[in-house]
Order: sequence, then structure tokens, then C-alpha cells
Amino acid sequence: MNNIQEKNVKKVTPAKTHLNGEITIPADKSIAHRSAIFASLTRGVVSIENFSAGADCKSTLSVLQKLGVEVTYTTEKNIILSNKNGFIEPIDVLDAGNSGTTIRLMSGILAGQKFYSVLTGDSSLRKRPMARVINPLKRMGANIWARDNDTKAPISIKGSLLQGISYNSPIASAQVKSAIILAGLFAEGSTSVTEPFRSRDHSERMLKYLDADISIEGCKVTIKPGELTPKPLVIPGDISSAAFFLVAGAIIPDSSFIIKNTGLNQTRTGIIDVLKEMGADIKIINQQLQCGEEVGDIQVNYSNLKGITIEKEIIPRLIDELPVIAVAATQAEGTTIVKGAEDLRHKESDRIKAICTELSKLGANIEETEDGFIIHGKTKLKGNCSLECYHDHRIAMAGYVAGQIADNPIEINDFNWVNISFPEFENTFNKLLRT
Ligand code: S3P
Repeated sequence: MNNIQEKNVKKVTPAKTHLNGEITIPADKSIAHRSAIFASLTRGVVSIENFSAGADCKSTLSVLQKLGVEVTYTTEKNIILSNKNGFIEPIDVLDAGNSGTTIRLMSGILAGQKFYSVLTGDSSLRKRPMARVINPLKRMGANIWARDNDTKAPISIKGSLLQGISYNSPIASAQVKSAIILAGLFAEGSTSVTEPFRSRDHSERMLKYLDADISIEGCKVTIKPGELTPKPLVIPGDISSAAFFLVAGAIIPDSSFIIKNTGLNQTRTGIIDVLKEMGADIKIINQQLQCGEEVGDIQVNYSNLKGITIEKEIIPRLIDELPVIAVAATQAEGTTIVKGAEDLRHKESDRIKAICTELSKLGANIEETEDGFIIHGKTKLKGNCSLECYHDHRIAMAGYVAGQIADNPIEINDFNWVNISFPEFENTFNKLLRT
């Protein structure tokens, strides 16, 4: 799948110098998925600037192409999408690869089409929970079935006329919220989703930007069916990819550098708030609004960190950054506690287990809990070991950052999984080491 080769061993040697200079990071994966999906919902031609080169977003494009959407690359990172006549019944199964966002958002859309479709994914995605989108879609009247008692992909959908619902989601999940909102675009009446805490709001912002009839009141989003206006879209850099560099800059002595053009949407910047609370020296510069999203440059300088407690409320704002926050915590004086992050067990891997197992191999003092972990720092990481990444891009990159501050080199197996979100990860790192 997606050219991710197995048995690719990366040797990581500890950084011999500080990180310095200026980098750009790849396009925000969440926003890029949405740009392609929402562009396909318009009846016009939409240009998308700075689309993600990661395998996940390519999975979204290939699913859309099988539904009849025309995708043209004008440059390596700029694309044009056109779906003038609307989706057509796919003649084959739709493969979302490793991407939870693709399968869950597309389930919402396909539930409201006039045809039959089947969504599947790789072995990791086929293990992940799908009832969280299937159940509310059924309540809207969707004809939707899945393996293992309607809980796991493949998901099979016979499109039908949907009814708007008012859904109280038990979890704060942007994928669940977006799937229901998108189904709401094809439903009769209005559809609303209320979350316990606010998850990332890229769907709401982009839908508003494209003139959807959408309103937001605290943790409640309401949408009415209607047309979207085709407009050019520009994708900012991914704060979740920047996170690996924010932590590297904060823990590699004497580092000082700038990450350019990063998405700074408040529902995603928990990593900055938490690192600052730990004592990191991080500043935002040149902040501006682009297609409804805040964007800016981030300056990070090395500093001494201290342990903190990370509570349930902030988890949705930094859920994908917890693997690398754990690496930062090993270098912080005192104890860092992460609570209320049980959903981390349902990501591309069981990230709680993965973080605890792999950082322990490096010599970190880390304890696994049901809904998070506890790290006692500051610990010198030893190296001289071989890390697993569990086919999970973020575990691979967190391991790489840990390897920079270890006493000895490490190896990371199947490192190519970084291609899911950040094919240029190591080159970007090397750029900071050379300048
Ligand atoms: C995403 C939402 C989050 C996040 C994932 C991307 C999105 O998942 O972990 O990497 O693009 O909406 P949940 O919505 O399941 O929390």
C-alpha cells in the first residue's frame, strides 16, 4: 500500500550540534484532506495550493478519483479538482489506505449519495473503531454495514435519503463531527453535532469559507443542506509536523530556529501551550488569516523544561502530538502526567503502549496508565537500541527526535512510515543541522 516499504531500518545518530536556521513543513494533513473532499462537493473547478505530499492525502485523492473527480497536478504541490457532474458509483472498492480521516469523512458523504460503495483500508485502519461514525449515520437513516458487528472496515454503504439529527457525541472527535456534518449537507432539515470538548474545527471553517449554511455555538455545530461555492484553497504548514521540531528545538541545547507558515488554528495549538507551560521559549510571528485559518511563523529556542500535568480538556487540541510531548517530558525536570487520552489507543497504533514501550527501551522513566502515561524526568536517554514504529508515522518521528538526544545511536525499524504525513522529514531535520 502507498509505497510504504516494510523493513526499512533508519540509523539515527545523536545530534552533534544545535539546530539552527529556517524551515517550512509540509501541508496540514487535516486541512488538505478537507480541501480535496470539499472541493469535490462544489460543482466548479477548485485550485488547491500547497497540497500534502503525504500518502494519507494521496489516499483521499485516489478515493475521489474513483468517484469520478478529475485531479490534475499543475506543480508538485498544486492541484486542481473538478467534479462538475457530481460523484458516480465507483466500480471498485475505495481504499483509504492508512487514513482515518479519509474513511470517516467519506462515510458521511457516501451515506447520502444515490449509489453503492465500499470503503476499506490497510491492516491498521481495518482494526480501528468505525462504530463512532456508523451509529450516528444509521440514526440519520443511512444504509450502512461493516465487519465485526458494524464496527470495523470494510464499510459497505447503499446511499439513501438522510434525515437531519441532533447528535450528542460522547467523544470530542473531528472525524466523527465532520462525517455527520457532511452527511448533513445531503440530509433533509438541519443536522447538529454537540461535542463534550471542542475538537479541531477545520471542517467548520472551510465550509463557512465555501459559503455553506453552517453555524457554531460553543461545542455545537449546525448545518443545513446546500451548495458550496468553488473558491481557491491554500493549505498552511502542519502544526502536527511542526511539533517534532518544536520539541527538538526545546530539548537540543543551544538550538534556535524558525518554522515558517504554520497553521495556528486555536483547536490545534495545544502543543504550543503545553510546551510553553513546561518552560519552552516559543514565539509566534507574522500571524495572519488565510482561507479562514490562522497562519504564522514560529520561533523556538532551547530552554530548560519542567514537568506538568496535562488534563483531559486540552487533549483534543494536542492528541496527535502526545508521542513527541512524551519525548519532551523525558527531558523535563520533575513529573509529567498525561490524563484523559484513552483515544490515543485507537490511533494508527495503540500510541500509549507504543510510547511507553519504545521510550523505556531508551532508558526513560515512564509508566503506562489506562488513559495516558506518567514520565519522571529528567533522564539521559541511552541509545544503543532498536525502536519499533508499529506502522505509525508519528511514533517513528518521535523516536527520531529522541534519538537526537541519546548518548548513542539508535535504529528505527520501518521508518518509511513517516511518508504517511511527512516524506521530507529527515531532509528537513538535516537542513537545521547544516545551517
Ligand atoms: C483528525 C482528527 C483527529 C486526529 C487525526 C486527524 C482529522 O482524530 O487524531 O489525526 O483530520 O479530523 P479524531 O477525530 O478521531 O480525534
